[in-house]
Amino acid sequence: MAPTASGHGATGYGARITGVGRYVPERVMTNAELERMVDTNDEWIVERTGIHERRIAGPDETSSTLGTRAGLAAIESALIDPATIDLVIAATCTPDGMFPAVATRIQHAVGAGRAGAFDVNAACNGFMSALSTAVQFVAAGTSQRALVVGTETMSRIVDWTDRGTCVLFGDGAGAVIVERSVEGEPGHINALLLRSDGSQADLLWASGPCTPGAPSPSSALGLAREEARIVMDGRSVFRHAVNALVETSMEAVTNAGLTVDDIALCVPHQANRRIITAMADRVGLPMERVYVNVDRYGNTSSATIPIALAEAEADGRLKPGDRVLFAAFGGGLSWSAMVVEWAGIRASRAGLPTGILAARA
Ligand code: UT7
Repeated sequence: MAPTASGHGATGYGARITGVGRYVPERVMTNAELERMVDTNDEWIVERTGIHERRIAGPDETSSTLGTRAGLAAIESALIDPATIDLVIAATCTPDGMFPAVATRIQHAVGAGRAGAFDVNAACNGFMSALSTAVQFVAAGTSQRALVVGTETMSRIVDWTDRGTCVLFGDGAGAVIVERSVEGEPGHINALLLRSDGSQADLLWASGPCTPGAPSPSSALGLAREEARIVMDGRSVFRHAVNALVETSMEAVTNAGLTVDDIALCVPHQANRRIITAMADRVGLPMERVYVNVDRYGNTSSATIPIALAEAEADGRLKPGDRVLFAAFGGGLSWSAMVVEWAGIRASRAGLPTGILAARA
């Protein structure tokens, strides 16, 4: 079967990633700072999670402002006019408010004047869900050019008195541009899989303003409301994460007609270094072919994969034609894997500063 430039053919879905960017807040929170807040220590955090520090959003920053910075970096790296973007999807579980969608604020702020915009919430699996949605829109021809953003202010829903969760999370945003594949050029989505198991929803969840519960001090008029707060059974989530990531990654690689040896780089969800190494070991991927930056940012939920992707590109770890494996896992429980044939970022190919580097400075 001949390669197809649209739809789902021998090469997969006729969509490709042409831009990538990221933005993280300036404020760094080290493990030493956490030692002064809860009963924990740097040695435990590094040994059990691999995390050394994370970023915390400033008082005026929100998921939409972080997402806008990342989105602009992605637009810059794709060398496109933002006015040509016709779809903006933001993945977030920490929106600025209950509504409107964070994506609409980003759509306006980046100058995507004629784009439709909506949010996707699949917790840490959000970016993969949003990207899968954009791929379908683009492959079907409904959208010509989509901006997909993963953006989180996890520090706003972390329980800073719970040492079992507060050491894990951080804030940040990453973004990609998705366009149609072009016949004869590299750049496809070779395989994608989304899975979930709602029977395990209570293993990892966050309450919010609509959660029934006891009145909290800040609830107005005595209404029963709870503050947003992450609750997690870490050990169970860990076990599920490794099994799900391994199974889905293997299935996606097989569906793409490839073997693990064909994968140039794996960019997994960054939740815990031990989860990543256990997954890589069982899948048979040497760690030299796995991108890890959880040490610097912790778990930024739906932002981990696009942040890591932007850094992998900036570090020269990706070249056109490379097969890249994304794999994510999070609350839901929900998980996913995707095999991407890397198109190459236009700015890098043209030898221009990508905006990723500018945003990093
Ligand atoms: O995107 C998905 C998001 N979630 C995840 O990926 C979480 C997956 N789970 C994990 O990453 C790990 O389960 C954790 C990092 C959360 C915990 O590591 P663990 O090796 O599973 O530790 P544990 O929960 O079995 O706890 C071991 C001990 C306990 O003490 P005892 O009962 O043995 O005395 C905990 O109370 O470590 C204690 N502990 C801590 N000690 C120091 C738990 N948190 C801390 C802490 N500092 N921050």
